[in-house]
Amino acid sequence: MSKLFTPVRLGRYELSNRVIMAPMTRSRANDSDGVINDIVPTYYSQRAGAGLIISEGVYPSANGKGYVSTPGIETDAQVEAWKRVTDAVHARGSRIFMQIMHCGRISHPSMQPGNALPVAPSAIQPPGQTWTATGQQDFVTPHELTVAEIHEVISRYRTATRRAIEAGFDGVELHGASGYLPEQFLASGSNKRKDEYGGSTANRAQFILEVLAAIVEEAGGDRVGLKISPEMNFNGIVDESPQATYWELVDKLNVFGLAHLHVALFGAPIDYHALLKPRFKGTYLMGGGLDQTSAEVALDAGRADATVFGAAFLVNPDLPVRFAKDAPLNSPDKATFYGGDAKGYIDYPELEATQAA
Ligand SMILES: Cc1cc2nc3c(=O)[nH]c(=O)nc-3n(C[C@H](O)[C@H](O)[C@H](O)COP(=O)(O)O)c2cc1C
Repeated sequence: MSKLFTPVRLGRYELSNRVIMAPMTRSRANDSDGVINDIVPTYYSQRAGAGLIISEGVYPSANGKGYVSTPGIETDAQVEAWKRVTDAVHARGSRIFMQIMHCGRISHPSMQPGNALPVAPSAIQPPGQTWTATGQQDFVTPHELTVAEIHEVISRYRTATRRAIEAGFDGVELHGASGYLPEQFLASGSNKRKDEYGGSTANRAQFILEVLAAIVEEAGGDRVGLKISPEMNFNGIVDESPQATYWELVDKLNVFGLAHLHVALFGAPIDYHALLKPRFKGTYLMGGGLDQTSAEVALDAGRADATVFGAAFLVNPDLPVRFAKDAPLNSPDKATFYGGDAKGYIDYPELEATQAA
């Protein structure tokens, strides 16, 4: 039998299979208040065949928002709406972690409270543009956080974790990948600070470690994961010695007793899975461009404990069933990935419906 369909331990949980749904921003919340739309519980419950669902990135505080119509987890209304998602997923017997995502400088004043500048470790403008309510606009030079403000950001991650658990999530994943705030601290190109949060690799890792300490205190390490994407070089991230950076970071994670480390690779020049998996004591999730065959090869070789699927899960709500039956997969409609309504969101057919048609 394929290892994909065998149970696996992840922190305090036993997951029913090793087909994990990747965190995916879908921009289907009210832009004004960050409350998810009524169709969101259906979307997640359709995908509850996953051993674990990791939610789309959710901002812990309003200044962490980086994309139009993305959801938050700070207000009572946001928490209440998320309860409908966790109830729906639990009713179908799966588990769901919330991904907490603070975008830092990958934002725009038009999405910030009071049109403020986005925040970052250093006042360095990222290259490129972002989609705003009034179309494409250049990223701006962000506000450099003071030490007191860094402590405030960390306390917002803590509160967000408390609220995620209150909303019924089984745990949280810290988004430390893709060039958002935690990786902006970690990488030497976006962090030029002269204080305890900048300079050496150890100092640049300090922000992530302090955020983890705070969220672990709230949830317990066995309900917390971290996502990283070494050398993805997305959102203007540059690091002078990425291998040493990730080596040191992952070594320091083990004190937290984390449930998982989620490593998504996108064309990295070295095999980070081989480098990092042996150093991490929790459950190792591999992601980035996997299909059923490559996932099975990785599991059989012991290169991953479980495997994460993004776009394939987005377009195939019953992905594990299709894998088990060697069935064909739906093809993606990329125009509906971000924003919009039910189309391209909750109308991808399940295999049975396709066969009946
Ligand atoms: C529509 C879309 C939205 C995404 N949003 C997020 C996100 O909010 N947080 C995150 O960590 N990764 C995000 N990702 C990346 C996925 O989690 C995953 O790492 C990536 O898609 C690679 O897996 P795949 O090749 O199986 O799709 C997104 C990917 C897609 C396709």
